[in-house]
Amino acid sequence: MTVITTVKDLEAALAEVRKEGKKTGLVPTMGALHAGHASLVKRCVEENDVTVVSVFVNPTQFNDKNDLASYPRTLDADVALLDKYGADIVFAPSADEIYPEPDTRRFSYPPVDTVMEGARRPGHFNGVCQIVSKLFYMVSPDRAYFGEKDFQQIAVVRAMVRDLKLPVELRPCPIVREESGLALSSRNTLLTDDERHTAAAIHAVLGESVAMRETCSVDEIRAFVVERLNAIEGLEVEYFQIVDAETLQPVGTWTEASGIVGCITVYCGSRPVRLIDNVRYK
Ligand code: PAF
Repeated sequence: MTVITTVKDLEAALAEVRKEGKKTGLVPTMGALHAGHASLVKRCVEENDVTVVSVFVNPTQFNDKNDLASYPRTLDADVALLDKYGADIVFAPSADEIYPEPDTRRFSYPPVDTVMEGARRPGHFNGVCQIVSKLFYMVSPDRAYFGEKDFQQIAVVRAMVRDLKLPVELRPCPIVREESGLALSSRNTLLTDDERHTAAAIHAVLGESVAMRETCSVDEIRAFVVERLNAIEGLEVEYFQIVDAETLQPVGTWTEASGIVGCITVYCGSRPVRLIDNVRYK
């Protein structure tokens, strides 16, 4: 496995790969890797000849400076994990390498980027599109792997790939969870043990709500999830929306769309840590 920090070295390494006609997979990450990332890397290694993993805490997608500053950075451990899971190239550039000039491109993909995270984190998806498009141009992957925990991110990246006609196949991968049910996230390292235990209720309550789908309306389920989680000390729901899995627009009935997903963001603990998760209703 090679660790590369410059675009020039990345291009040189990939020129060889392309000459040999090998298929390349990309796993974009912001580091602080965990078993969720490992599952993406594992799948990428299975499906491609060459696996590139980017490790870059992208400043342009953070609308909160404190959030950017406190984002965990664990490059040595990340490199060890990637070696273990068979990645071929780790691309870990500096911010100046990626943004030698400020990126003035603007990406806008309504309606999928205006709701939920898009409404609450102004500029977030613009930053995600800036970095992901740059990585797609630099690596030219045949396939790219994204975790379904960030359900909306996948919808926005899909819209961008369609818009820019990028020749890459997106491979969404299932959420990986702790034994307690808590969705794995780099942010979980910011939780105390007690908070981690409390946060497990998010998945448990979402699971209960799926079981109620046959007998309850969309509004009833939405109210149930929010009330149940807000009643737990240390948790505060920022939003819970039940949406069409394609357009991400809220649905009023279970028959309104062929795919329906519940997307939630919850603040946990005293810091507090912002956790996201989702559940499929159909
Ligand atoms: O999901 C993430 O970790 C990031 O948003 C991504 C896709 C690596 C872009 O910085």
